[in-house]
Amino acid sequence: MRPAILDDARLSALAREHGTPLFVYDAATICARYAELSGFDVVRYAQKANPNLSLLALLRECGAAIDAVSAGEIERALAAGFAPNEIVYTADLFDRAALEGVARHGIHVNVGSRDMLAQLAAVQPRADVTLRINPGFGHGHHRKVTTGGSDSKHGIWHEELPVAIDQAREFGLRVVGLHLHVGSGASFSRLVRAGLELVHAAERVETTLSSISAGGGLPVRYRATDREFPLERYAESWRAGVRSIEARARRPISLEIEPGRWLVAESGVLVTEVRATKRQGEREFVLVDAGFHNLIRPTLYGAYHEIRALAKLGPERAVVVAGPLCESSDVFTQVPGGALAPILLPPLVAGDLLAIHDVGAYGTSMASNYNSQPIAAEVLVDGERSRLIRRRQRFDELFAPERELL
Ligand code: LLP
Repeated sequence: MRPAILDDARLSALAREHGTPLFVYDAATICARYAELSGFDVVRYAQKANPNLSLLALLRECGAAIDAVSAGEIERALAAGFAPNEIVYTADLFDRAALEGVARHGIHVNVGSRDMLAQLAAVQPRADVTLRINPGFGHGHHRKVTTGGSDSKHGIWHEELPVAIDQAREFGLRVVGLHLHVGSGASFSRLVRAGLELVHAAERVETTLSSISAGGGLPVRYRATDREFPLERYAESWRAGVRSIEARARRPISLEIEPGRWLVAESGVLVTEVRATKRQGEREFVLVDAGFHNLIRPTLYGAYHEIRALAKLGPERAVVVAGPLCESSDVFTQVPGGALAPILLPPLVAGDLLAIHDVGAYGTSMASNYNSQPIAAEVLVDGERSRLIRRRQRFDELFAPERELL
């Protein structure tokens, strides 16, 4: 579901106005993705995908609740207007700042490690709590984003759930929620199987249970040939599970989902300017002003993002698209493992613009200042209107925390 509104003319005009590299997001695409999740009672946005305050505020207006995985994400959610009771802290540990934030704002916690139970009880006596289960298997678009199974640090191992429940009770905590998240970009069958595990686990806590969460992980179509995720069938499989828990427990159970990528990935385009072209033996390189400091997914996972030339036609040639960083992995067209995967583009010269698609999730949220590159600007398009939602980082901001100590 790519935003048709972000056509070549619009993207080129925005790049002229704000400079490049530039992230552009379409509000309508995000809201449309949100609306598709109506089969779930609560849509809890996993803000790690893109925590820009204006996007958080947009999703809040749509009706979303919010997930936070750090003290910083709790602060962001509050700054965007979420009430403390709309925030859940989901993690496998409390660093000291997170425990302090949870305590200060009375944030509900989704506990991924048993050590967290005593720590939580110490700051929130008699709190309600959710337990995150590791069902013993996982699945994701890459092994680095698989969050279930014994190679994963995430969640309470399924065989330890009874111990965790006993411990929670000993500490005076009430288990009101169960959660799992087996990976990002997971397959339909694995996601459905995870649901069955959670429904089974619910038997152990059904006297106090009030909600279950399917986690996130829904895949999106990065390639035109990727299949559309059968969302309705997926929601129905969880609904069936909820009905069976409700029948046993004789109490209403709220069904949550916690997507990041699904809501924002396709809304985003990264506009970048060609600054040099060169031939290295057999290879043709197109060097652009965006790099893995803006979008690290190709470098980290060999992830595919479609790249197009804006307003440029002509006989296509196989080129490698690479960034400005002093590191050879700074290439947008590569496969997992790092081998180059040239793509077809029309003839390009310095000054031409490229659009890198589906970058709304895990683009700018994973940005860095490597090579002292500033964090890129971000623009939100809403129909005819558009506005800057993050200004480009200034150079003085790069080293301010050091300069004051010089
Ligand atoms: N819930 C939990 C507990 C998670 O750990 C995650 C993602 C999500 C929800 C949201 O997952 P999503 O719906 O976005 O797949 N940087 C990687 C993705 C890492 C995801 C980490 N956790 C990427 O660019 O693909």
